[in-house]
Amino acid sequence: MSDKAPSPVLPSHDDVNLDRAAAILGEGGLVAVPTETVYGLAADATSPHAIAALYAAKGRPRFNPLIAHVDSLERALSLVDLSPAAQALAKTVWPGPLTLVGRHRDDSPVCDLARAGLDTLAVRWPDSPAMTGLISRLNRPLAAPSANRSGSISPTTAQHVADSLGSRVNLILDGGPCRVGLESTILADTPDGLVMLRAGALEAEHIEALTGKALKRADASAAIAAPGMLKSHYAPDCPLRLNVTEPAPGETYLAFGQWRGDSANAVLDLSSTGDLAEAAARLFAHLRKADALGKPIAVAPIPPEGLGEAINDRLARAAAPKDN
Ligand code: TXA
Ligand code: MG
Repeated sequence: MSDKAPSPVLPSHDDVNLDRAAAILGEGGLVAVPTETVYGLAADATSPHAIAALYAAKGRPRFNPLIAHVDSLERALSLVDLSPAAQALAKTVWPGPLTLVGRHRDDSPVCDLARAGLDTLAVRWPDSPAMTGLISRLNRPLAAPSANRSGSISPTTAQHVADSLGSRVNLILDGGPCRVGLESTILADTPDGLVMLRAGALEAEHIEALTGKALKRADASAAIAAPGMLKSHYAPDCPLRLNVTEPAPGETYLAFGQWRGDSANAVLDLSSTGDLAEAAARLFAHLRKADALGKPIAVAPIPPEGLGEAINDRLARAAAPKDN
């Protein structure tokens, strides 16, 4: 990998570019790939060499395991054991923003380093022709965390990836802005049923409607937790405060719903109509824009239901004190 030249950025909709990306991945390289949730930084999940490079490029602690991306339920089941309930959910939602954590199979080729040594593995079939096209070409699962430096704001455009990772990635595939804009919902498949480890793009209410069961949430003290759910994450450099209805003069305001601000504030609308899907799609890009203005950031209250759960989760982590 070069230290100087910026990474090439190529359209993801072109087979020639996917062939080129697959060749890079096959040699242990790193490719940023658009998905419906956020851009992922893909590497061959079976190659310890590639996964070591991935952790280094992100500056990610090695105790934090990666999601193995797949292109079919069949491939997922070659990597992990999933209960009938988890499989039924996967069948209705995949390809889509759902990640399932199951027991890692002994005959799975995913390397220890990608799992941070755990005996479980997270799997997801994304709604992304680019990512699934690469997996099919390689005929291997791809590990793909969000394509940003660890702890910073997740990328929803190719430009965000370039800004965050610079030349640390061998190629960036550009598929335009991500449709959903928030990471997948993570569920652990446990003997006690499905447990939500991370709120995300698939709403808890939707999962409950599909399974007919109340969804359990992992609390911080639970034995099973997503190791990556650090308190401070998605963090802008500027201070950020939440649930603000009256921003102080000079603060950059992230508004939700009707807002009659005055000129003392720069205002970025998450959604002027109060639409949570619109706010989710804009959240990370607006946090970056607000951060670039260099002023303290204030965010309007976001209702807690539906996608609001994941939006509030990301905002709480963005506002948390950085002690790492
Ligand atoms: O939408 C998404 O999920 C995006 C796109 C690129 O697919 N990926 C993503 O990956 O958000 P990442 O690495 O930024 O977040 C994955 C989370 C981390 O918090 C990690 O700790 C958790 O999943 N995780 C991975 N494997 C796990 C496991 N075996 N058990 C519990 N948590 C796990
Ligand atoms: Mg991430």
